[in-house]
Amino acid sequence: GKSGYDHYMLKEIHEQPSGIRECLRGRLSELTGRVTLDLLEGTDWDEPVTLVACGTSYHAALFGAALLRRWGINAQAILASQFHADQLPLTSSSLVLGVTQSGETADTLRALREAQRAGATTLALTNVVGSSAARECDHVCYIRAGPEISVAATKSFASQQVALTMVAALLSDHRSRELIESLRSIPDAIQQVLDTTQARTVAETYRDAESYFFIGRDLHYPVALEGALKMKEITYKHAEGFAAGELKHGPLALVGEQTPVFALVTGEGRAANKTIGNIKEVEARGVPIVAITDGRADVERYADHVLSVPDLEPIASSVVANVQLQLVAYWVANELGRSIDKPRHLAKSVTVE
Ligand code: F6R
Repeated sequence: GKSGYDHYMLKEIHEQPSGIRECLRGRLSELTGRVTLDLLEGTDWDEPVTLVACGTSYHAALFGAALLRRWGINAQAILASQFHADQLPLTSSSLVLGVTQSGETADTLRALREAQRAGATTLALTNVVGSSAARECDHVCYIRAGPEISVAATKSFASQQVALTMVAALLSDHRSRELIESLRSIPDAIQQVLDTTQARTVAETYRDAESYFFIGRDLHYPVALEGALKMKEITYKHAEGFAAGELKHGPLALVGEQTPVFALVTGEGRAANKTIGNIKEVEARGVPIVAITDGRADVERYADHVLSVPDLEPIASSVVANVQLQLVAYWVANELGRSIDKPRHLAKSVTVE
């Protein structure tokens, strides 16, 4: 049942801390700073690593590919429907990761099967034990998010981000006690976000907006895409996510007083400073700004509203920031009286190409 929540989606958003603890359980060593995932041992593979997925899982795949590249492994995320094994230089030492909550998405299964026929080694990252992807791939990593009933994927995305972080660390032999501490801190940090009412207030303020824009750079870019997808799916309103740097290359023409811009900006680095520059560009045009941020005064000065996240390193920060966007989408849809758990026209698992 819904355990007292009005919708499965809200219940599943609240299950993220426990889902992530489960995803991490027994897979990290604080002593060595290593991921101890029991995966791909003895498998030889060459770069580039290719990730295939659809929808929300594709956003997680973009996040995973960006992390692999950060840690020195050439990697690419490809939409499963756009994946054609014969157009890629796949060999018997290629590694293809399929990211799929259900393990039953037709496009993703087709891409994985084509990769296998080309001789590649395949790894499924999935939530469903015994699913087609789990059965057919050479290797499987379960994300352990627990059953997801709501059509809109929420807790599975967070667990995919965490599982992909571990897989990327494993593949790149990245060792860091700080990373492990940071992964362990995510559940409590998400709980802090869940305990605030900021997202609900923002949703009430902007429920009648014409359109919603989401911007983020680097690891926040997939989160901006995911924030927009969640908004579209459950509110039926127009929303778009952009890389923060792309705004001035076209989308800026669309912004105005009726189009709030949700800007993901955390940390102190150059990337954050550039995003602040992007915020100023839209702010100067009278556009409402909602900043998802960890408390920088110069961000809060330009923002009409702030959705706070604890001060964390970039990976954890992206996972936690996304929760604020899930909550905004949920509360806008709730304000508008939408059928949140079963949005029109959508199915939980898409078994046709
Ligand atoms: C969005 C959503 C879909 C799925 C997509 C892939 O909330 O649920 O975009 O993410 O259909 O599904 P899986 O991960 O089961 O392959």
